[in-house]
Amino acid sequence: MSSYRLTIENFPKEGPAVTTAISWQDEVRRLAAEQDAVILAHNYQEPAIQDVADHVGDSLALSRIAASTDASTIVFCGVHFMAETAKLLSPDKTVLIPTAQAGCSLADTIDADQLRAWKAEHPDAVVVAYVNTSAAVKAEADVCCTSSNAVEVVNSIPADRPILFLPDQFLGAHVRRQTGRDNIEVWMGECHVHAGISAADLRAQVAADPEAEVLVHPECGCASSAIWLAGVGDLPAERTHILSTAGMLDTARGLTSKTALVATEIGMLHQLRKVNTQTTFLPVNPKASCRFMKMITPELLVRCLREGRDEIQLPPEVVEKARRSVERMVAIGKPAGAR
Ligand code: 13P
Ligand code: SF4
Repeated sequence: MSSYRLTIENFPKEGPAVTTAISWQDEVRRLAAEQDAVILAHNYQEPAIQDVADHVGDSLALSRIAASTDASTIVFCGVHFMAETAKLLSPDKTVLIPTAQAGCSLADTIDADQLRAWKAEHPDAVVVAYVNTSAAVKAEADVCCTSSNAVEVVNSIPADRPILFLPDQFLGAHVRRQTGRDNIEVWMGECHVHAGISAADLRAQVAADPEAEVLVHPECGCASSAIWLAGVGDLPAERTHILSTAGMLDTARGLTSKTALVATEIGMLHQLRKVNTQTTFLPVNPKASCRFMKMITPELLVRCLREGRDEIQLPPEVVEKARRSVERMVAIGKPAGAR
């Protein structure tokens, strides 16, 4: 276990300067108790950050915890839009992220002006925004969704109402297929990490390990082809699962296969390996690492708790409108897993 150098100067007291080595994990837990803070970590965080957190989960599960926690401070170890969502649901609480630099390439594919212009072209449409969007974009949406409830959210909208779905093209294609609706316009955004998990990678790994179960996040570049390949018999249809990160964990608990191929960000492997020690979980692309998620380090987490930074602040008019979209989602979405 790496240690964080805690010096007596850090805690001004009478007496000689002495240096004690304590683990950074103990320091995080001590500071969290002192600050009345709950620490939430997304499934893509570094394993050490996941292990020190109070709760680990997907974005929907963590939103739900943020909405119901008694703690006065929420420390969000994830990316910026996730911490903003926590602030929308708990506007009176202090919401911190260890660095505000932790953005999201998918959320950055659309801003509020672009969405307003798109809405003007489709005035009757209901706008469904994936949670991977800024609060300003959520404020322009009618309802939010995550990868674990996107299909339920779209199914809750009357069949004759056109839908604008944003910003992820692969999740949008997945939702179109699952709902059978042809009145869904999809924004052509993508996550650079998931788009980098290709159908060729998936096909090669399945060919090398034909008995493996296959777990695919719907944001992946390979998600559409995985469904198609399963349909034509090139992938085992009964062993190919298109799942959110929470869905992957639920499925992993029941697996008895020797191996499972995992098509998502590699941070996910940590929780999968924890919930099922019998199956070997292998990444479809071992380089699929989100550099924004990995910006959260032990040092920045300690700084966050000590210095109260970086704090999420949102304009009240954005909070009011964006919160409505998120609350509609939380009311519709089925419960997702978090520990
Ligand atoms: P989940 O909603 O499955 O947690 O995914 C969030 C995300 O950022 C995917 O890249
Ligand atoms: Fe955004 Fe992709 Fe990182 Fe998820 S994995 S936070 S979608 S950049």
